[in-house]
Amino acid sequence: MEKRKLVELLEDMSMEEKIGQLLQLTGSYFMEDAVLTGPEAEIGVTDQEIACCGSVLSVHGAKELRKIQDRIMKSQPHHIPALFMLDVIHGFRTIFPVPIGQGCTFHPELVKEGASISAKETAVSGVHITFSPMSDLCRDARWGRVMEGTGEDKYLNGVYTKAMVEGYQGKDVKAPYKVGACVKHFAAYGLPEGGREYNTVEVSNRTLFEDYLPAYKEGVKAGAVSVMTSFNTLDRIPSTANRRLMRDVLRDNMGFDGVLISDYGAVMELVNHGIAEDGKEAAKLAINAGVDIEMMSRSYVANLKELIVSGEVEQSVLNEAVMRVLTLKNQLGLFEHPYKDASEEGEQAYILCKEHREAARKCAEESLVLLENDGILPLKKQGQHIAFIGPYVDNKELYGAWALMADGKDAKALSEIVPLLYPNNGYWFEHACNIVPKDSLLSGLASTLETKYTEEEEARAMERAVETAAAADIVVLMMGEHRLQTGEAAAVGDITLPKKQLELLERIAKVNENIVTVLFNGRPLDIREVKEKSSAVLEAWFPGTEGAYAVADTLFGTSNPSGRLSMSFPYCVGQVPVHYDEFATGRPKETEEVENKFCSRYEDIPNAPLYPFGYGLSYADFTYEYRRISKEQLKISKQDDFIEASVTVTNHSDVVGMEVVQLYIQDVKGSVVRPVKELKGFQKICLEPQESKTVTFCITEKMLRFYDINMEYKSEPGEFRIYIGHDSTQSNGLAFHLTK
Ligand code: GLC
Repeated sequence: MEKRKLVELLEDMSMEEKIGQLLQLTGSYFMEDAVLTGPEAEIGVTDQEIACCGSVLSVHGAKELRKIQDRIMKSQPHHIPALFMLDVIHGFRTIFPVPIGQGCTFHPELVKEGASISAKETAVSGVHITFSPMSDLCRDARWGRVMEGTGEDKYLNGVYTKAMVEGYQGKDVKAPYKVGACVKHFAAYGLPEGGREYNTVEVSNRTLFEDYLPAYKEGVKAGAVSVMTSFNTLDRIPSTANRRLMRDVLRDNMGFDGVLISDYGAVMELVNHGIAEDGKEAAKLAINAGVDIEMMSRSYVANLKELIVSGEVEQSVLNEAVMRVLTLKNQLGLFEHPYKDASEEGEQAYILCKEHREAARKCAEESLVLLENDGILPLKKQGQHIAFIGPYVDNKELYGAWALMADGKDAKALSEIVPLLYPNNGYWFEHACNIVPKDSLLSGLASTLETKYTEEEEARAMERAVETAAAADIVVLMMGEHRLQTGEAAAVGDITLPKKQLELLERIAKVNENIVTVLFNGRPLDIREVKEKSSAVLEAWFPGTEGAYAVADTLFGTSNPSGRLSMSFPYCVGQVPVHYDEFATGRPKETEEVENKFCSRYEDIPNAPLYPFGYGLSYADFTYEYRRISKEQLKISKQDDFIEASVTVTNHSDVVGMEVVQLYIQDVKGSVVRPVKELKGFQKICLEPQESKTVTFCITEKMLRFYDINMEYKSEPGEFRIYIGHDSTQSNGLAFHLTK
């Protein structure tokens, strides 16, 4: 529809119709013979308000959504089509690894392909917008939603946010099989005090701009059609009412002109925050802050008309919000094609198709991180007696808490796959124990809970598992968190494995020293005991629909692990938050040996994490040699000046391997303190046995910019050091100077 037609439409709409466009309700309100319960019943929207509803969330299915669209358009005085939105965080039905695992691939093209595949399955199911990517930087493993982000590094998060937005939207979101992205949660939701869900965020303005906003900005630059507000406060103002954050920073500073949607109920929650007296004041604060759509609360529909009539809210503010919603519908082509790609034939043809499964398997393989290996891996493909033990050996649900459309029947379990793929060994499979105790409170997003044993049954199963382990050549322990122990509303104070699983490890280590431990989890855990008792540790995260194949092929060497940690594994929860790009402090601790008590250290634990950002092992053996730079001076005044930094990487093994060559830069002195190093680039390369490759990075002045003492984003002359290596612990930097 032409822009002027949209303007004419807006002008012709009644106040109720306009306000209705700003309401988003769950699909339950539109199902035939819907029975509303819980929060959906409590909101109290009227039939008239439902009739004018502009967008719908959490419903999918071509047939169903075409019917709902018909119903909504029929009830709308101007027959305006609805937007359908859904949480497709890491796959629709073909589930990809959880984002923290995807972050470990250091392969943004793979992640972009995964987003494109997710978009296709989402689009044929009738949905127009996905509430993804989550770009919240997080360095706190206690927070459950660390699983939904791509790790602790602001640069890496920006790379992945861009890749996901491009994957979802393509070049034109109107194109077939594309969906709109929704960058969330704006802003700094990943920094809750104590790692506690929905908790207060306290961050300096400089750190907010330097570390926490860049990834969202990459999403806006990539053309994301929508942004979602965060539940938290910033500067003691809830984001959903934070006019400076939404209008000055997001819209004016970052140039975002799309739709801003509140998180679930977040407008009405302004009352709980204590900055709104009631729904009316909440509506006024949110609309004036620039929030266009109110998700699942009725402050707008119940109060905006009165607020506008009384002059407390300008009519232009309402019109501006409604126009953004109509514009988004127009961008998607919904006025001409209200069903867009909704197609039962498309669902049949594309959901879980072979190509999608293959892409998910490749992404899963590259998300796996080999943390320890004394040579026990890869497992021999014949003549071994191997006991697979633990609650994940026969579990098909190797996906995270936000895999809403996933179904275990789409996947295979390790216990099914291993004998098929590697038939020339002897195998035992023992579930051994529940993932979590039967009485654990897992109020997650689904009802599934792997607690197959009563206490007595579990005791017997554990006994049987230990006996089996004693008789085996090798034990492969498959343990981890329950998938609903991460994700939203899943913050924890204890980041160790469930106690029963640690008991299993303890008992098996007494009867067999050849233990390979595979971990399924959505957050970095305190795995000191696992490290101590295992000959090899493979971090699998929640690898998705094809995850069992990826783990099996990696264990037996068909796939060579290439994942590198996108987030540090803390030594223990007391270290949290821990991240590689820390500041030196006035009393840096130079070594782990205690030479000087009075330096930045702990009395009882090391400063270093158990496993650092960027770390991961391979079955290959890579060396780095001939680090060199093309010159030692970079001139600010010389347009397009650059330095080339190179290294030669060699694979000294007899297996093909992929290596993630990482570039870090240190700004030795600034007008404000600067991190000890910052990731500025990476290249994932594949090396044949005995092959060498020279990897070169181009370093420009622009890469050296930061928010200086005056909050101006620019570089400062001085000394810099370049670290090219295997992970963030790389030392012996190459020095260069930036000059005027
Ligand atoms: C949830 C989450 C948000 C999600 C939304 C819709 O509370 O915070 O990430 O997209 O509600 O389900």
